[in-house]
Amino acid sequence: APITVAIDGPSGSGKSSVSKAVARTLGVAYLDTGAMYRALAWWALDRGLDLTDQAAVARAAHDLPLEIGTDPDDVTVRVDGTDVTEAIRQTRISSQVSAVATNLDVRAELRRRQRELIEQARHDHGGVVAEGRDITTVVAPDAEHRILVTASEEARLARRSTELHGGAGAELLAATRDQIVRRDRDDSTVSAFFVPADGVVGIDTSELSFEESVQAVLDVVQA
Ligand code: CDP
Repeated sequence: APITVAIDGPSGSGKSSVSKAVARTLGVAYLDTGAMYRALAWWALDRGLDLTDQAAVARAAHDLPLEIGTDPDDVTVRVDGTDVTEAIRQTRISSQVSAVATNLDVRAELRRRQRELIEQARHDHGGVVAEGRDITTVVAPDAEHRILVTASEEARLARRSTELHGGAGAELLAATRDQIVRRDRDDSTVSAFFVPADGVVGIDTSELSFEESVQAVLDVVQA
């Protein structure tokens, strides 16, 4: 029978790399819902939209010509044929994505597309690991497995700093802290990051290596 593994978590919790590895191990598809919000932010900016213009951004969400790879080994994201896989990770996007993600019409449209992609992956690939901020609670509350991946602020900062800047020295940590704290605040209406909803299993990865984190999720799925 097909399975959906829903994984939520804050930035720097390791949820993306862990989710991808879990999908690979299980031989199912992978859906990065954050990439969809990022792709919309990229497209809206590319078209010169003011991201605070709620109606214009909502229209853009409906029109968004998005293709998102759900193979854990090929997560290419294309907008209108342009490969934006790298571009959507830039600071320019990270710092503005919350503006589109807090738009309720945008959320309704992207959630609708996410549910469609999950259904399709269940049908075509026997299942999917879908990760984001609201997957366990809103997008796929009926998923066979629901997990909230957390980590201490310290651990999240160190991971993000290494990812973004290649190190975790004092100056790099400070720069990363500014970015992460600000996005968490900008996102605060989107989700309650640290408290697992009813029936959701919490995994704290603060003290876990990458491999241990992957195993902890697999343990929940294979229990
Ligand atoms: O970089 P990080 O892993 O923290 O974030 P991401 O998963 O790439 O998501 C980027 C942004 O998309 C978040 O900061 C949220 O604003 C938004 N997002 C959301 O609102 N709902 C989701 N299910 C996933 C992401």
